[in-house]
Amino acid sequence: MSVGQDIVAWVDERFPLIKTWNEHIAQYYAPKNFNSWYFFGSLAIVVFVNQILTGIWLTMNYKPDGNLAFASVEYIMRDVNWGWLLRYMHSTGASAFFIVIYLHMFRGVMYGSFRKPRELLWIIGMVIFLALMAEAFMGYLLPWGQMSYWGAQVITSLFGAIPIIGDDLALWIRGDYVISDITLNRFFALHVVAIPMVLLVLIFVHIIALHKVGSNNPDGIEIKKGPKGNRWAKDKPADGIPFHPYYTVKDIFGVGVFLILFSAVIFYLPEFFGWFLEPDNFMPADPMKTPPHIAPVWYFTPFYAILRAVPDKFLGVMAMFAAIAMLFLLPWLDRSRVKSIRYKGILFKLALAIFSVSFVMLGFLGSQQATPTYTMLARLFSVLYFLFFIGMPFYSQIDATKPVPERVH
Ligand code: HEM
Repeated sequence: MSVGQDIVAWVDERFPLIKTWNEHIAQYYAPKNFNSWYFFGSLAIVVFVNQILTGIWLTMNYKPDGNLAFASVEYIMRDVNWGWLLRYMHSTGASAFFIVIYLHMFRGVMYGSFRKPRELLWIIGMVIFLALMAEAFMGYLLPWGQMSYWGAQVITSLFGAIPIIGDDLALWIRGDYVISDITLNRFFALHVVAIPMVLLVLIFVHIIALHKVGSNNPDGIEIKKGPKGNRWAKDKPADGIPFHPYYTVKDIFGVGVFLILFSAVIFYLPEFFGWFLEPDNFMPADPMKTPPHIAPVWYFTPFYAILRAVPDKFLGVMAMFAAIAMLFLLPWLDRSRVKSIRYKGILFKLALAIFSVSFVMLGFLGSQQATPTYTMLARLFSVLYFLFFIGMPFYSQIDATKPVPERVH
């Protein structure tokens, strides 16, 4: 035996190394028909690791103090060796994270990946989504620019709209009557330590839940229920292939494509036309001067548009939370006989197309000034957004589906 094998054997006597490797990687059989939509899970892990690593290095020079924070970010950008790269990798990384996650979720909706037996996997995913939104929201305060300050001011005061406890709740979150140095300190603690740890645990649990039930696939066929026996193992699904080397190689290709696009943005368009880093945030926070137009970063704007579409502030807040709650309910709203869009009928395809357009339009409208026309449009698209979910138990049942084949394509 080589020295390497000796070390592995030594460890394996004390820790289930080979067993874990086999169970989750080398002898983990995934459906053989994954397409490019299945890149986004592994890409989410890559982006998460990028955020953690660049975040650690940013923290080495960042100062979580109302008097120093803005200047410390400028210092990182101008004076710290490679500081500009770390910062752009982190700020572009935040947007990339949401692009990847939105596509990951969209894949789930297209192929019915939230349906039995993956309901819990979906719910864990949704909890990850909530944690990710909290993480991004708190991170955005840290550069202490005008939009950091006023964005946080607007969002925290939303809690004030909740009857009875609202004002106390907003005060408790901020630690002050307005966003202040106290808020900056606690958001720093939560952004850098608490939520990343929560995310790490949730991602781990997400993968464990995934490996318990196995992946869905573009055909929505349960390979575990199908015939057994493939060229590697007699008792494993006939339509399964070992995750390693097949999907490790495929995922590495996906990472390569992603890194090309990611680098192009970091090196050529780090602000991405004001969508990833907003112009107002290049001005230091000024509690005495409200910017003329306050809007959150693009990944929050669909929900922000729904909030603004409702005339009453409290009902608006409720509508915004309901928009996210709907996603949690998906496993129980879909009554279709089939899982994947491939075998669903025209009603689902139409509903999904309208929903997707509505989501993108809401994203645009939420980033703009609320003119009367835009407000009317935001109301229209908010209604369409909710109809996708509320109508689902009905249209999914009457939709004409195609027969699902026995084996995957
Ligand atoms: C940090 C965030 C996340 C990470 C690192 C992550 C990671 C992964 C990985 C590695 C897979 C397997 C590969 C794949 O199917 O693409 C997966 C599958 C899945 N994820 Fe996530 N995920 C995250 C967030 C979410 C969110 C927000 C949702 C939904 C709300 C979600 C729902 C699912 C579902 C339903 C599957 C199974 C898909 C199928 O088999 O068709 N995930 N995830």
